[in-house]
Amino acid sequence: MKDVYILGIESSCDETSVAIVKNGREVLSNIISSQISIHEKFGGVVPEIASRNHVEAISNVTKRALEEANMKIEDIDAIACTYGPGLVGALLVGVSYAKALNYASNKPLVGTNHIEGHIAANYITNKELKPPFLCLIVSGGHTHLVHIKNYKEFEILGKTRDDAIGEAFDKVARVIGLGYPGGPKIDKLAKDGEANINLPKTHFENLDFSFSGIKTAVINLHHKNPDVNKADLAASFEKAVTDVLIENTLKAAEQLNIDTIALAGGVSANSYIRSKFLELEKTNNKKIYYPELILCTDNAAMIASAGYYNFINGITSNLELNAIPNLKIGM
Ligand code: KG4
Ligand code: ZN
Repeated sequence: MKDVYILGIESSCDETSVAIVKNGREVLSNIISSQISIHEKFGGVVPEIASRNHVEAISNVTKRALEEANMKIEDIDAIACTYGPGLVGALLVGVSYAKALNYASNKPLVGTNHIEGHIAANYITNKELKPPFLCLIVSGGHTHLVHIKNYKEFEILGKTRDDAIGEAFDKVARVIGLGYPGGPKIDKLAKDGEANINLPKTHFENLDFSFSGIKTAVINLHHKNPDVNKADLAASFEKAVTDVLIENTLKAAEQLNIDTIALAGGVSANSYIRSKFLELEKTNNKKIYYPELILCTDNAAMIASAGYYNFINGITSNLELNAIPNLKIGM
């Protein structure tokens, strides 16, 4: 079969990224221009500033992605771009740029779901991974437990009823004075602490999650006792959320009789979460996958991979493609 080269574009939040991926699995280039240092001083992403920075970065990032892959736009088979979910202004920059490229080059346009991109990051790192499997998507905007039935068919088994897990990490980090983005900072600090503080965990009959109770408990504890050991607090927070993630994932695995579990999204970069899930290989006979660190957080290689599975299944878009900030998975 002929090789298929997809150019992926990602601009849903604060990373401007363009990548070229061969046959959905092999990264030829993955340029990521992060705006973290710009948003850091505001303690979170400022949507208007994000859009403006995407506009300034996107042409150059695209040029670099093509150069690094040693390709020209004529060598590409299709252009995949994230059209949701995400910040509307930020998404519109990538979508408009992809439409302009499509118009100028006549290469097919493939609107791609950002969450499906996070799942597909696993296909790049784990060449043997194929559906069906369970995927736990844990990011700044999402907490979803999904049954990946095949490359294009998804069933949401459980999701958060309040905060996304990454939001909880970021909020806790801000309150205890670690700054933005909080996830990596909590990850580092927790390594020096003991999970010796009991925090409330929320359970539901079904496979849904809730993190606002744990988050609020940590914040209240810190307010009442500012001298509390922050490393212990970070370790206890990580343990409490990880216990809930593992409990629901194992319940889903049992219900569906599936032993293959993949993690995805920015929070799947967390070293404690990765190690606890990996233990399930020994204790529960599961096979655990996660993307390499650079592919956990937002990047365009994962969009090119998910775009590849759209493209080879005949799913393409036209110039009517628009940004959909609240796009659901599997749409
Ligand atoms: O997937 P992502 O880049 O963006 C969304 O699609 O939301 O995820 C960003 C989130 C942020 O909340 C960030 O704090 C969190 O991922 N994150 C982490 C780690 N690295 C990034 N959370 C916990 N531990 C980490 N090492
Ligand atoms: Zn993301």
